[in-house]
Amino acid sequence: MKNNEIKEAVLLAGATGYLGGYIAKELEARRIRVKILMRDSRKAALLNTVNSTVLNAEVTKPETLKGLFKGVHTVISTIGITRQKDGLTYMDVDYRANMNILEKAKRAGVKKMIYVSVINGPLHRNLKMVEAKEAFVDKLKSSGLDYVIIRPNGFFSDMRDFLQMAKGGRVFLFGNGKKKFNPIHGADLAQVCVDAISSRKKVISVGGPDILTHNEVAEMALLASGKPINIIHLPHWIRKMTLWTLRTFTSSKTYGPIEFFLSLMAEDAIAPRYGSHRLSVFFQKEADSIKKAKQL
Ligand SMILES: NC(=O)c1ccc[n+]([C@@H]2O[C@H](COP(=O)([O-])OP(=O)(O)OC[C@H]3O[C@@H](n4cnc5c(N)ncnc54)[C@H](OP(=O)(O)O)[C@@H]3O)[C@@H](O)[C@H]2O)c1
Repeated sequence: MKNNEIKEAVLLAGATGYLGGYIAKELEARRIRVKILMRDSRKAALLNTVNSTVLNAEVTKPETLKGLFKGVHTVISTIGITRQKDGLTYMDVDYRANMNILEKAKRAGVKKMIYVSVINGPLHRNLKMVEAKEAFVDKLKSSGLDYVIIRPNGFFSDMRDFLQMAKGGRVFLFGNGKKKFNPIHGADLAQVCVDAISSRKKVISVGGPDILTHNEVAEMALLASGKPINIIHLPHWIRKMTLWTLRTFTSSKTYGPIEFFLSLMAEDAIAPRYGSHRLSVFFQKEADSIKKAKQL
C-alpha cells in the first residue's frame, strides 16, 4: 500500500520531541492525515501543521487515551525519556506509556505500530533505558499487530554534547577516539519512519550517511566553534569507574542517560547508511546560531 492510499489517519505520539517533530513535518509534506497526541497542547503551535488534529492526552495515564484511536490505521511512537525530568522511570514511560498506547490501539482495531527503539537494542538489555525499550519491543512483537521496530543510531540532536564541550575549547573522549558510528539527522530518520508505514520489514536499523570516528566528530565540533583542535583522551578505567559510581550512588533516573552514552562510547555502532544531512553542516549551523544569539 502506498502512503497516499491510506485513507485512515496515522496517530503520532512524541511529536513535541526532536524526532517526532520531524515525523510530523514529513507526514504533513506527504499529505497524510495525522492525529497528534501531546500532553502540553501549547506546543502544538510549534508544529505548524495543517493536516493534523492535535489531541490532548497523557500517555502515562491510559484513561486519557480513551476514544482517540478511532479511525487510526497506523500508530507511530517516539515516546521515551531523554532529558525529561518528570520523576518517572524508563519503565514508566518507555515501557508502560508505550504499552498504554499499544493496548488502546489494539482495542480500537489499529493495524500497525511503528516504534523507535535504539541501535543494537537486544545487545544492551543490561542498560536501564534499553531494558525498558526492549521489554516494549517484545510485547509489540507478540501483540498480533503488524509492526516495525526502528533501530536508529545517535541523533544529531545528541551530538550537541560535542559542541557544548567544544565551546569550552576542548573535547573529552574515552579511549583512543577511533570507535566509529554514523549519527543521523531527525529529518532523514523521519523519512525512514514514515516509509515504514508501507514497509514489509519488521526491523529497520539505520544511521546517517557518514561513518565517523569519535575523533572526527570532536574535530568537526571544535572547527565549527572556531577553536583549535584540542581532544583529551581519557582512559577507559575512568569511564568504567564513573559508570560504577553512578550506578552505585544515584538512581536510574540520574544515571540512565549517562549509562547509555558512556556504554555506547566504548564500541563501534554502525548501521546501514541513509540520508543527506551532514554532521559538519549541522554543527556549523548550530555554532552560528549560538554566536548570533550571543550578539543579540
Ligand atoms: N537521541 C538519540 O540519540 C536517540 C538515538 C536512538 C533512539 N532514541 C530514542 O528515540 C526516541 C525519540 O528521541 P527524541 O530525541 O526525539 O526524544 P525527545 O526529543 O525527548 O522526545 C521524546 C518525546 O516523548 C515524550 N515524553 C517523554 N516523557 C514523557 C512523559 N512522561 N509523558 C508524556 N510524554 C513524554 C516527550 O513529550 P514532552 O515534549 O511533553 O516532554 C516527547 O514528545 C526516544 O525514545 C529515544 O530514546 C534516541
